[in-house]
Amino acid sequence: MIGRLNHVAIAVPDLEAAQAMYRDTLGANVGAPQDEPDHGVTVVFIELPNTKIELLYPLGDDSPIAGFLEKNPSGGIHHVCYEVDDIIASRDHLAGQGARILGGGEPKIGAHGKPVLFLHPKDFNGTLIELEQV
Ligand code: CO
Repeated sequence: MIGRLNHVAIAVPDLEAAQAMYRDTLGANVGAPQDEPDHGVTVVFIELPNTKIELLYPLGDDSPIAGFLEKNPSGGIHHVCYEVDDIIASRDHLAGQGARILGGGEPKIGAHGKPVLFLHPKDFNGTLIELEQV
């Protein structure tokens, strides 16, 4: 069911410092920040030859990553995103397998303008999983 690794998301406490580190220290192709008010984050995509890194920084007062950064003040891996062909069929398959779908199970439009869903980390070895329909 899952396909390619679309991105690995890293929550960062200082977006400018993280951009500079990926651009200057690691020599990566770092995009411009995009505000995602529906998701409570500002994102920066970093294009790698085989996947992307998504830097996440809190946006607004009740950002879903604020608590994560409180627990991980220097930042950390927040989620991995796998591609699927049909997000509704994937959701129904996962629900049938007993996996918990976050946010009421209805896809939202993600940072690439495509439908996404998140799966409960306790069902997946402590990893928050994002599914993106491509
Ligand atoms: Co993501």
